[in-house]
Amino acid sequence: MHIETTTKVANSLEVLEKLLERISSGRLAKPDWIKLQGKCRLDKMGRDQRESILDRLHGCVLRGFRANNVDFDDEETRLAYWRSVARKGFHDFSEQGWMKSYDSPFREDYDYIGPYLDGGLSKLDAYAAYTAVLGTFDFTVEDFVNTELCPGVRTIVEPMAGTAEFAYHSHFHRPDFRYVMIDLDAEAQERVLAQRWLEMTEKHYLIANILDESVWDQVKSITTGESLAYVGKQSHHLFGAKEIFRLLEVATQRVDYLMLETPQLAPVTEMGGTDDVSRTEMEDAGLEVELIEDPDGEPNPFTNLMHFHLGASDKTGRRRLFEYRDWTVWSQPTLVAMARVLDLNAFYFHSETHEFTSVDEEWEDSDVEDEVTFMLFTRRDLPPSA
Ligand SMILES: C[S@@+](CC[C@H](N)C(=O)[O-])C[C@H]1O[C@@H](n2cnc3c(N)ncnc32)[C@H](O)[C@@H]1O
Repeated sequence: MHIETTTKVANSLEVLEKLLERISSGRLAKPDWIKLQGKCRLDKMGRDQRESILDRLHGCVLRGFRANNVDFDDEETRLAYWRSVARKGFHDFSEQGWMKSYDSPFREDYDYIGPYLDGGLSKLDAYAAYTAVLGTFDFTVEDFVNTELCPGVRTIVEPMAGTAEFAYHSHFHRPDFRYVMIDLDAEAQERVLAQRWLEMTEKHYLIANILDESVWDQVKSITTGESLAYVGKQSHHLFGAKEIFRLLEVATQRVDYLMLETPQLAPVTEMGGTDDVSRTEMEDAGLEVELIEDPDGEPNPFTNLMHFHLGASDKTGRRRLFEYRDWTVWSQPTLVAMARVLDLNAFYFHSETHEFTSVDEEWEDSDVEDEVTFMLFTRRDLPPSA
């Protein structure tokens, strides 16, 4: 089901001031977005005025703001603008606009460029750079539970959670849900638990191997309502065939729905080489971030195995941020074949209807060839047809 959002428009600073005043005094409900256009230009303000407006904007929107009317003479002023907005609690890692976590009262600092400018490549926060270039911000649990298949979900599990963006962002929409994150990386756990979470939310970050059946028993014992497990960023590609098969088997015995984020459907041979994923603020700061095929990493078209890493470089040198050794692209048909062997029902998230659709049904208008898609596996029966 599509999620409706509200947008208020400000064409001038005076209109924006009045709008913020009406919202902060409670006379007008917070819109999802505020759109600044025409003469309402953040780039034409002094830094103090801009930051004071951004402070107020943060408390007056549910999701964020859009300002496509900015224009800069040079890289330095563009970077200064980006950093001042990021420090005031908005990021533009999503294509939707400058976003904050949904209705979050916390003004988070998204300026990961500052530490790099101060200390060079060694001080670049690898997790933050990874989040900026590969973060998934456009979908949260809000999208997946607002469906005919999953309205009963109350527990979200994030296996291979790493920085757990899915659980963290989702909890702002549904603080009443339980969140269980699982990873081998104690540093990632520490980082995630140090973030500001809404107090009422129950969260658990387990350090465990998700192929170990007992961790799923632990998940089951924590579960309330129906449960949905979500593996993001195609992390399951780190597994070999027996491991992914085992994950599909053991996870679906203990959770109601297992979702895997899958890449766009394309031959693996198109995925090798070097992919420059640098963002504008990185380039403005003199930094380049790339997904780089390892010397022995050329994708094998028979096995879909490849090796690559996320690397950062600047005029002083290079740094490897994250390794992706033994990465096997488990394309949708392979996953569906495994699901058939295990007698699981297989669905994908249809981008037009925003519903989970059986892989045996409608596939026109799905953007499986252009975008990441989400596959869902379950032992449950198909939902009643409309
Ligand atoms: C691509 S990264 C993290 C992606 C993550 N979904 C995110 O949104 O940031 C993959 C993660 O899988 C974890 N991992 C790898 N094998 C694992 C296993 N067998 N059990 C649990 N976690 C594992 C790694 O520690 C790493 O944090």
